[in-house]
Amino acid sequence: MISDRLNVVITFNAKPENNSSAASLSPEVPHQESPAPSTLYDDQFAEWDSWETIHAVEAALATKHHVQLVEATPAALQTLIDKKPDIVFNIAEGYHGISREAQVPALLDMLNIPYSGSDPLTLSICLDKARTKEILSFHNIPNARFINAYSAADVANHQLQYPLIVKPVGEGSGKGIFASSYVEDEQSLLREVERITTEYKQPALVEEFLSGREFTVAVMGNGKTAKVLPIIEISFAGLPEGTVPMYSYETKWVYDTKDNDLDIHHCPAPVSDELEKRISEICLAAYNVLRCRDWSRIDVRCDKDGNPHIIEINPLPGILPDPADNSCYPKAARTAGYSYNDMLLSVLDAARERYGL
Ligand SMILES: Nc1ncnc2c1ncn2[C@@H]1O[C@H](COP(=O)(O)OP(=O)(O)O)[C@@H](O)[C@H]1O
Ligand SMILES: [Mg+2]
Repeated sequence: MISDRLNVVITFNAKPENNSSAASLSPEVPHQESPAPSTLYDDQFAEWDSWETIHAVEAALATKHHVQLVEATPAALQTLIDKKPDIVFNIAEGYHGISREAQVPALLDMLNIPYSGSDPLTLSICLDKARTKEILSFHNIPNARFINAYSAADVANHQLQYPLIVKPVGEGSGKGIFASSYVEDEQSLLREVERITTEYKQPALVEEFLSGREFTVAVMGNGKTAKVLPIIEISFAGLPEGTVPMYSYETKWVYDTKDNDLDIHHCPAPVSDELEKRISEICLAAYNVLRCRDWSRIDVRCDKDGNPHIIEINPLPGILPDPADNSCYPKAARTAGYSYNDMLLSVLDAARERYGL
């Protein structure tokens, strides 16, 4: 176990509605020099972290290290130059565009400052689900057949088999994925492609719908020592009658809430040894071909014959600290015996090992 006390900076983006409470809690956050977040984000804040999460990460790393918070605004470049941290623990989601998660790591590469998590290339690719699937397909890692549609014309004469799902190519947290995203005919397909390309101003990813069981898999570590934490099953049994079984925006934020816990997450997932092995194998293969570092959470779903496929890779996994929020990476880590603090310290240690710190 590495024991040196390091100067660690946490880079983050905080949900703007809570910014007012931040100054008193975190005097080191450079609010004065930061442009008002409202001038810089659209609806990106859905992915940004709450102060509850940011302070939980701060408290975890502060058990072993000297920790400072740096809000990942454009002014952060100068702040990072001034603070010269030994290493950055990066959870910043970034501001605009498909490479937004890469912005802070790119600055850190420029400044030659070590940081936790994946590099800009991996973060950009994984946010683009079509690019990710192209790489997975090249390496024969199973994923649903798809088209990346820039307009309705791109789905003319498609060879995909209904039912299909239509989703924004570069969003997370269920954004843009509703019950209507599941389509069984051409008319609905065209409607959804039109909706995604106009409302989200990005291509629509049209995929064959995998109708089997769904899982999400937390991976920690690097290279040969990367390991899969206990698999979580996403069970749709508790959804209202007639709901399409999907972990959609409605399922994530409307049906399954703290007050109405649908018991959606089952960890460890009740799966056969064989299925567990196959899921672990495709997740580690995906993690390695995408060159993920330190940690990621990977969504998996089985087809109608029970074969697992990769849905997407999240190299910056959500880490809500309150177990009642059912945040998946911390849940898998808890099942593996890690406290929230141990989980984050282990991710930091994985990064330190890479840099020999
Ligand atoms: N090809 C697919 N087949 C079946 N369900 C899918 C497919 N793609 C996505 N889904 C459903 O939609 C949910 C959200 O899709 P995902 O790509 O993971 O988006 P997000 O980035 O918002 O989590 C998945 O958890 C799954 O339930
Ligand atoms: Mg997902």
